[in-house]
Amino acid sequence: LAAGFTDESTLPVQDVRELLDQVLGSSRTGRTALQYGTTVGDAQLRELSAEHVRRLDGVRSSGESTCSANRCLLTNGSQQLLYMTAEALCDPGDIVLVEDPTYFVWLGIVQSHRLCARAVRMDEQGLDLAHLEEVLQTLKRNGELRRLKLLYLVSYFQNPTSITTTFERKAGALRLLRSFERAAGHPLFLLEDTAYRELRFHGGEVPSALTAPGGQERVIYAGTYSKPFATGTRVGFGFLPEPLFTVLTRIKANHDFGSSNFLLQLLARALASGRYDRHVQELRERYAGKAAVMAKAMNRHFPPGVLRTNPDGGLYFWASLPRSVKSGIRSSLFRRSLEAGVMYVPGELCYADDPSRRKPNHQMRISFGAASPEQIRLGIARLGPVIKEAAMAEA
Ligand SMILES: Cc1ncc(COP(=O)(O)O)c(C=O)c1O
Repeated sequence: LAAGFTDESTLPVQDVRELLDQVLGSSRTGRTALQYGTTVGDAQLRELSAEHVRRLDGVRSSGESTCSANRCLLTNGSQQLLYMTAEALCDPGDIVLVEDPTYFVWLGIVQSHRLCARAVRMDEQGLDLAHLEEVLQTLKRNGELRRLKLLYLVSYFQNPTSITTTFERKAGALRLLRSFERAAGHPLFLLEDTAYRELRFHGGEVPSALTAPGGQERVIYAGTYSKPFATGTRVGFGFLPEPLFTVLTRIKANHDFGSSNFLLQLLARALASGRYDRHVQELRERYAGKAAVMAKAMNRHFPPGVLRTNPDGGLYFWASLPRSVKSGIRSSLFRRSLEAGVMYVPGELCYADDPSRRKPNHQMRISFGAASPEQIRLGIARLGPVIKEAAMAEA
């Protein structure tokens, strides 16, 4: 129950086989796909990606947002875009703002670029704007604002908490960042990671920060076809304002001079044919079902002191144990869970090293992505007693 892998049984094997037949169906299309492409990636997929995000955002024409094909960079998973953004904007010692908690792989990028992270609290509406302002004020007071470069936000069904940040909060965050730019002496960007956006199974669509005032100039939109289609294809995309678009294109040229043309052509066909949309619909139903199975099992097996989120999408539950019950890598709870055959992601891994607060160590990310309903029932039935035992030992 730890991995952020997607549901095995829904991976679109048949669709991909038929699409590959089309790609390789004639010498002309086959040869195009098997030749090097361009650094920015297949023109049709860039156009389709722009249309796709505009449709999700409820925006009609490309004139209304940054979301146009000529600002679209196709990447090797959205992971590459995250990495290249840090590479482009940050120098060692620079500061990035992150949600508290945040996506732990981003924390790896922060570490590898020798950056400092400052954590901004969240509530059930997403990023806490009052705390964001407080953090920005503190940086200003300490003369550190010049080192601040961006706010990283996993805005939809966040990994790890499954919280979605409302549109109003995103617009508010952009406004706040803007108001500190003069003191920073440079633009402050919002890196919006939308990895789970399409895995929504309850509620309505929330527009991206691209459509908020100032979004065209300051939002870097990181999207992916991994989670909603097939993680193995590793196709992601970004929409970037200039001059960042040009800078990241140059960095990508140094990394790999373009993602796999073959896979980009495959994705383009999946989108253009409507197979992609059908697949996403199927996934939503599947995850809604598995989330319900997990919620029911947790209600049955977890002790009453455990609080958890109730996801409307994505792949995760986030459970908070009583504070005295440690869930970290070195905890007896983690060890006992492994002995019982269950793994979760210890919450402590999702917290940045922020000197202004102690890292919480009493939470867990529990995924319903890869496990089957039977495995979910069994896993939670095993995890519940281990948590109870740890809570009793602390009492
Ligand atoms: C929040 C978040 N962002 C980005 C990614 C990277 O996904 P990919 O590179 O497959 O697009 C993941 C993968 O789990 C994720 O959870």
